[in-house]
Formats: sequence, C-alpha cells, structure tokens
Amino acid sequence: MAIEENYLDRVLTMEVGRCTEAAAVAASTMIGRGDKEGADEAAVSALRSAFNKLEMQGTVVIGEGERDEAPMLYIGETVGTGKGPKIDIALDPLEGTTLTAKAMANALAVVAMAQGGTLLHSPDVYMDKIACGPGYPEGVIDLDAAIEDNITALAKHKGVDASDITLCILDRERHEGLITGARRMGSRVFLIPDGDVAGVFHTTEQATGVDLYVGQGGAPEGVLAAAALRCVGGQMQGRLIFRNDDERSRAERAGITDLNRKYYLTDLASGDVIFAATGVTNGTMLDGVKWEPGYVNTHTVVMRSKTGTVRYIRARSRR
Ligand code: FBP
Repeated sequence: MAIEENYLDRVLTMEVGRCTEAAAVAASTMIGRGDKEGADEAAVSALRSAFNKLEMQGTVVIGEGERDEAPMLYIGETVGTGKGPKIDIALDPLEGTTLTAKAMANALAVVAMAQGGTLLHSPDVYMDKIACGPGYPEGVIDLDAAIEDNITALAKHKGVDASDITLCILDRERHEGLITGARRMGSRVFLIPDGDVAGVFHTTEQATGVDLYVGQGGAPEGVLAAAALRCVGGQMQGRLIFRNDDERSRAERAGITDLNRKYYLTDLASGDVIFAATGVTNGTMLDGVKWEPGYVNTHTVVMRSKTGTVRYIRARSRR
C-alpha cells in the first residue's frame, strides 16, 4: 500500500502530465479544421499510447463511452503495462471538441487518477452543477437554492455587492432562467460556448474573475472538475439528470441506485486524486499548443490533492 501511495503521489503525478501533453499535441494538429470527431480521435489515440507506457494497472472509469460505443478508452478498458498499482482513471482526451474544430478558446486534454473506487463511476448523462472557489464557509452555495440566493450568499461572504459577482455559465437555452436571474441581481455572466471543466476551474483562480459556476453540463466532466477542485480547494455539488430510460439504465449499469442523489465534492472524488490538464487552444488559465520549426510547446497544470501542490509546466519538445 505504501509503495502504491508513493508511486501514485509522486512518480505518477508527473507522468500524468506527460499523458495530457501527448493528447493535447495530437489534438492541436486538428485545430480549426472543422472536424471535431477527427480531433477527438487524434487525442484519444495519443492518450491511450501514453497511458500504455505507464507502469500501472489502470482502469478507465470515466471514458469515451461504453464498450460498445467507443473503440478506445471506453469505460472498463484496462490501460498501462499491467504491472504496478491499481488505479482508476477519469479522462477527457479532448474537452472541447467543437472548440478545437473552430479554433476557439479553452479546449483542454484532461485526466484524473485516483485509487480504485474513489471516483464516482458516472454514466454519460447530464449533471446539474454548482461550484465556487476556495475560501468560503462550507455550504455557502446550494444546488437547490435559487440563483439569487446563491449570489447573495457568495457576495455577503466575499464582502462585495451582488453586482461584483461573476458567474460562468454554458451558453445554452436551458440556462436562460439562470442567466436572467443573475443579471437581474446585477451580476456579470461570463458565457462559455463549451468546456465546463475549465468553467468550474475558473472559480479557483482569482485572475479569471469568476466567482461561481452554475448550470447543466456533462456528468463525466463534473467528476473531472471535482477532481481538480479536490486539489486546489473549493466547493461543488451536482445531481445527475436522466432524460429517458436509456439514461436511467446507464446509471444502473454504473451501479447508481439513488437517481436523485445530491453529490458533494467528496462524493464525486472521495480519495486522494491527481489531476492534469494541458491546453489545446489558448485559454484563460493555460496556453494552447504552439508549434515552431522542429519543436512543440505545451502548457500543463498538474496537481495532487494530498499536498495541494499545483505545478504549471511549460515543455518544449523536439518533433
Ligand atoms: P465535448 O468536448 O464532448 O464537445 O464536450 C464539451 C462540453 O461543452 C462539455 O464541457 C460540457 O459538459 C458539455 O459539452 C455540455 O453538453 P451540451 O453541448 O450538450 O450542452
């Protein structure tokens, strides 16, 4: 156990960054080409090859889909050399396929790793999410409260007016109520076209100006965002949304029995976790991949919850 922990904590942390670098570099060759599937395939294939060099018995618990719908990095696929510690992996080789296809900001390659059984095995459905950064009393935000009440609570604890609160929300029709509610309070709304892992992560960095993330996005992305928050602090709550029987049976297959459960941060990612993300396109927090003759430049963040260490790594690799 001690060896596993040591490996997971120290050696693997840096290796995970190498894996997201590989995925981001592959995806970057597809930036602006209008082919989101092609961009995703490039990232998936590169990430899988990078994983298979690592000494671990990795199991994909959040992946590209179920076994019959994803050829690679599907849920349950084992990766790594087959030696070493047993590790659960949540991944999104390209978070923001459309962002990449359209050369828009904030596309990322993202991976979280944890000891077996500690990441929520979430089905690929939507999740209702709310998140804020570190430094607030526990419970300051509540998924079940009105948006106005969440803004008021956050503003009170931040010591500012509601007009000084900025929310990040996915630009979708389904969020119209949240957006108008926030604007009625005088708050700012930072609308993002895609990419809510980055959206949630924005709340943890003062420089982004984002205080609160709200809205419905992918549940797998919710688990990845929770893994990131476990490393840097912050609060998050989520609830899975099921639109039909197929989605409900996905939950059953994933072992979820209480379909209405409200998940807190440590329900989404309960144990020690490693999180890594590499920018594909330029973003608010990470630069995108840059090519120059003979070299490629990447920008990666690697974090681990046990120590709270956050490393930003700029790499220049020969190509
Ligand atoms: P992809 O990378 O698969 O394109 O997902 C991007 C994304 O914006 C996620 O960040 C978000 O959770 C989800 O899609 C939102 O889904 P939808 O586009 O259906 O609203």
